[in-house]
Amino acid sequence: MCGIVGYVGGQCALDVVLAGLRRLEYRGYDSAGVAVLADGGLAAARKAGKLANLEKELADRPIPSGPTGIGHTRWATHGGPTDANAHPHLDNAGRVAVVHNGIIENFAELREELAGRGHRLTSETDTEVVAHLLAESFSSCGDLAEAMRQVCRRLEGAFTLVAVHADDPDVVVGARRNSPLVVGVGDGENFLASDVAAFIAHTREAIELGQDQVVELRREGVVVTGFDGAPADDVRRYHVDWDASAAEKGGYDYFMLKEIAEQPKAVADTLLGRIDAGGALLLDEVRIPAAELREVDKVVIVACGTAYHAGLIAKYAIEHWTRIPCETELASEFRYRDPILDHRTLVIAISQSGETMDTLMALRHAREQGARVLAICNTNGSTIPRESDAVLYTHAGPEVAVASTKAFLTQLVACYLVALYLGQVRGTKWGDEVRSVVHDLARIAREVEEVLETMEPVRELARSLADQNTVLFLGRHVGYPVALEGALKLKELAYMHAEGFAAGELKHGPIALIEKDVPVVVVVPSPRGRSVLHDKIVSNIQEIRARGARTIVIAERGDEAVRPYADHLVEIPVTPVLLQPLVATVPLQVFACELATARGNEVDQPRNLAKSVTVE
Ligand code: F6R
Repeated sequence: MCGIVGYVGGQCALDVVLAGLRRLEYRGYDSAGVAVLADGGLAAARKAGKLANLEKELADRPIPSGPTGIGHTRWATHGGPTDANAHPHLDNAGRVAVVHNGIIENFAELREELAGRGHRLTSETDTEVVAHLLAESFSSCGDLAEAMRQVCRRLEGAFTLVAVHADDPDVVVGARRNSPLVVGVGDGENFLASDVAAFIAHTREAIELGQDQVVELRREGVVVTGFDGAPADDVRRYHVDWDASAAEKGGYDYFMLKEIAEQPKAVADTLLGRIDAGGALLLDEVRIPAAELREVDKVVIVACGTAYHAGLIAKYAIEHWTRIPCETELASEFRYRDPILDHRTLVIAISQSGETMDTLMALRHAREQGARVLAICNTNGSTIPRESDAVLYTHAGPEVAVASTKAFLTQLVACYLVALYLGQVRGTKWGDEVRSVVHDLARIAREVEEVLETMEPVRELARSLADQNTVLFLGRHVGYPVALEGALKLKELAYMHAEGFAAGELKHGPIALIEKDVPVVVVVPSPRGRSVLHDKIVSNIQEIRARGARTIVIAERGDEAVRPYADHLVEIPVTPVLLQPLVATVPLQVFACELATARGNEVDQPRNLAKSVTVE
């Protein structure tokens, strides 16, 4: 949520900052702005709407550039998406510029205090107070990093701040609390950004910033301190294991199309080297001894959105393979209901970005109550894995499209691995059983590929439904979260009324929604395994068809029993029952993407949304 870039070095700062913002636009696209230090002063430009509007503004009214600059792409919180609310915000003298991600909770009292001292604040944002406070502190201490520390000690809430001052033109200062900020370490140049994607074209060396830290960036180096001024002793440098091409569209029209196509590789990469010869799971970082995992008497999964749907599927696998009770909970609800947690509870936090504030707050609450936390995450060095007791990274590579696709499939793979590992550690699964499931998982990448090769009829169907108002999704067992995920994708991309239901719930209310020609997507469980479930869903399909629904049936290849009731049949490969979501979700992603395109929507940047939701 909000993308931030800072640069100091030998290149034209304006160019570097704009290129960085282009890569971060997925984080917010309500407005964009830049500030650069040049000719002894500060030049800034900002514009409501997408980055393209700012670029046009800069083409029409160019600003001078020097070696130091900052930029911002906004997802609006305080104040609408207008030019006046766009970042950077400046002090009254126009000497300080600041960009911000997060929410400053005590901004109203600070604003009043500043107004009392004669400051004129011109926007509706919470951010503007920081520019004025920084200007005041700098005028008394003459050091931008010290001014930032003084200001941060007064702020409440979550914030990443990056600032420049015209009187200290060789420095960019950043600060973070509960919101992401990484340093890119270059040769004679250094970078600050919300995400490594902003500087990956220049350097793959990065530094994670810790909680409540201030960083002072100069051409020749980087100094990190706490808000109290003490040198940071936990600075961790790391090498980013993907390059600039991974964050580019690579010939696809949209990132989402590219990311859907990358799923076979993402699934295979997430499995790579995970299970040792003895069948044990290799986590990336583990601070939970096996003895403690044997003591676990409850698993609680916390996550949001698509990651939550992965968690709902994980519950089936964890309970079936380990016999440990498992709950999956929306992270945003979790801590407010006073959940029962203790040292025998294992909390699994699932997050692509590793920065989702609701999930972060849920895991902090869990740890405070003595629970152990295992993170499943796609972003190296992000806050959620840093604050967890153990981490299993999904190797999906950077996910740029706002709608999550490849991250979801890899989250599922990671969940299955964790379930198997728990089963093994606790003796509910033998080594050969673990190996057999891992073998099934290893085949999935090829099966996802097969699904992708047969998607043309799904795209055609999606185009034919572009004028519909409603699409419903039904599923049972692990197919139920798949239905929820299909509906979420359609809502966020096609802006259509889409709802997912457990098919068994249909007769308890939702069946009233069925009328002539309403498209209903049904995810059919395998006829093997719990075949009773299959028979029941076939009855559900007949019930909705009898009431005029147009049925779009996703079923296992060779499932002849559903064929007569399917207006459109989408066949998927035969997989073990619990693993079916890995193949059944893919047609729903393609369906939503194509429908959104047919409706003329922005596939990678759906309205009102942003990737990486760093506010609660
Ligand atoms: C939907 C989507 C969101 C995210 C959710 C959690 O396509 O992308 O629902 O899944 O915001 O994000 P992470 O996984 O980064 O915690």
